[in-house]
Amino acid sequence: MCGIVGYIGKRGSQDILLEGLKKLEYRGYDSAGIAVFTSNGLEIKKSKGRLAVLEDKLKGEPLEGSVGIGHTRWATHGKPSDVNSHPHTDNSAKFSVVHNGIVENYLDLKDELIAKGRVFVSETDTEVISHLVADEYDGNIVEAVQRAVARMRGAFALGVLTEYEPERLVAVRFASPLVIGVGDGENFIGSDIPAILEHTRDVYILNDGEMAVLTQSGVELMTTGGESISKEIFHVDWDIVTAEKAGFDHFMLKEIHEQPKAYRDTMRGRISDDGKSVQLKELTMSEDYIRSIRKVHIVACGTAYHAGLVGKSVIESLAHIPVETDVASEYRYRSPIITPDTLVIVVSQSGETADTLAALREARSHGARVLAITNVVGSSVAREADDVIITWAGPEIAVASTKAYTSQLIAFYLFGLHLAGVLGSQERATVEELIAGLHALPEQVEQILEQAPVLKQVAESISHHRSLFFIGRGVDYAVAQEGSLKLKEISYIHSEAYAAGELKHGTLALVEEGVPVIALVTQEALYEKTLSNIKEVKARGAHVLAVANSGSEHEIAKSVDETFVIPRTLPLLTPALAVVPLQLLSYYASLALGHDVDKPRNLAKSVTVE
Ligand code: F6R
Repeated sequence: MCGIVGYIGKRGSQDILLEGLKKLEYRGYDSAGIAVFTSNGLEIKKSKGRLAVLEDKLKGEPLEGSVGIGHTRWATHGKPSDVNSHPHTDNSAKFSVVHNGIVENYLDLKDELIAKGRVFVSETDTEVISHLVADEYDGNIVEAVQRAVARMRGAFALGVLTEYEPERLVAVRFASPLVIGVGDGENFIGSDIPAILEHTRDVYILNDGEMAVLTQSGVELMTTGGESISKEIFHVDWDIVTAEKAGFDHFMLKEIHEQPKAYRDTMRGRISDDGKSVQLKELTMSEDYIRSIRKVHIVACGTAYHAGLVGKSVIESLAHIPVETDVASEYRYRSPIITPDTLVIVVSQSGETADTLAALREARSHGARVLAITNVVGSSVAREADDVIITWAGPEIAVASTKAYTSQLIAFYLFGLHLAGVLGSQERATVEELIAGLHALPEQVEQILEQAPVLKQVAESISHHRSLFFIGRGVDYAVAQEGSLKLKEISYIHSEAYAAGELKHGTLALVEEGVPVIALVTQEALYEKTLSNIKEVKARGAHVLAVANSGSEHEIAKSVDETFVIPRTLPLLTPALAVVPLQLLSYYASLALGHDVDKPRNLAKSVTVE
């Protein structure tokens, strides 16, 4: 995820671009850059690091001109570095491009452009776009962009300038967000409304496959196929703070709602077009190596550890390799038996968690191969691991992790299927069924999100209690642990997650009249067992809310007080759905109690101390 801005008008563009980028830093902040038409032509200044580094650079040598584009980067292809930063240009340095998204077929395009004599300087997919546009150019930048885009696959929002036509700024949207701001004698582009809201409240919101040609005096809208379109102007009447949260009250709620997109983004390009196999082309581990793995250790902290608990079930059932899951702060000190045939998987949203990093180093020092599942390209964990699976959740701002956790689950499903593909450990039909199940998840999450008002009511009643329990069996128990952590960290209500069958060995003593128990009952094979455990708590007066699959709710409803129904999926995939109502419950409980949802007390987003 990256942020793009653009300006065409009469004012100096540099400050407008930098202000816009500041608003977009939440979309990525590992490098930034701008391109401006100056009296010397199209000039680019960019640098690795936060926007402040670029600002310092520009202090001494400002770029003066009234047309420009800017970018703040969240590295995808190529580590954060000056040369990989945007804007990118071509060999003539007459074209400049900023890009948010991923060009899936960039390697094929790159090979073709290299064969034509084009020289590349960065590792990015975006540089391919600037060469491609230059290659297609024959005197009309709009047509060149249309021809280039027709050859690109993936997700992209683009801002394009050429020195040959300094009076035009071209913008394209295809599966990455982009808005056009309409001013008086000036026009703007931005990845979102806050980036331009200081200058105009009138915007066009582009849909996929649409583009805009901006001049000082107007905006022309068309499809990427060149067909002219007209659109209503959307007048923004929110304040800037609301706008940054895309209209949601908190980042956490926004991020919960971004999960369908995070699922799609994490799967994009990793499942074959025919839906028959998973291809993790980014992995360097050979098939022989995969066949030699005798055990897997999954190591992580907090929510990422909970994703690892689901990961254990996924790998064990799909690849039949034994898995141990450890909290990173314990791993090193328990002297784990790590051998060269142990694959160690570290999971970390930030990629900077000190304990996880220490565990990674410990594993490598014993000769194990390390696979990182992380949300941050170029993070310490990503740099030091042998292999990396990036989760494409985009930057997570709320301290309580939501979309990062669920995209870690998706990464585990993909990796499990990748292993199964190499090992032949699953029937082809099972693999295809799981892939179809994965594809259905984003829409199923959307269906759950539509039921948020029901959860708000439940959360309000839970918020009056001082303590509650989450119970479940199998992967439901793993989800229960995540639900319990989420509730504790933002609502400050004490809760415990228990393996449903274990309660009676002690903790049942705490269950008394009115104590809320949230029971996850999604695993058909375990229904009867979990229902017996529910009866045990009901007999002690507990008030039970069950999270159940559609189809089973009527049976389960007979034993509980309330039922929340999630769409039916395959048993192994249910965590990716069942956790969503729990996230919403925590959110609304915290809200009801008047807490700072996005910044809970005593906690930090990235824990870089042991
Ligand atoms: C809880 C939460 C934390 C993190 C943990 C690990 O909502 O976010 O428990 O999961 O601190 O952080 P990462 O994933 O960055 O290593």
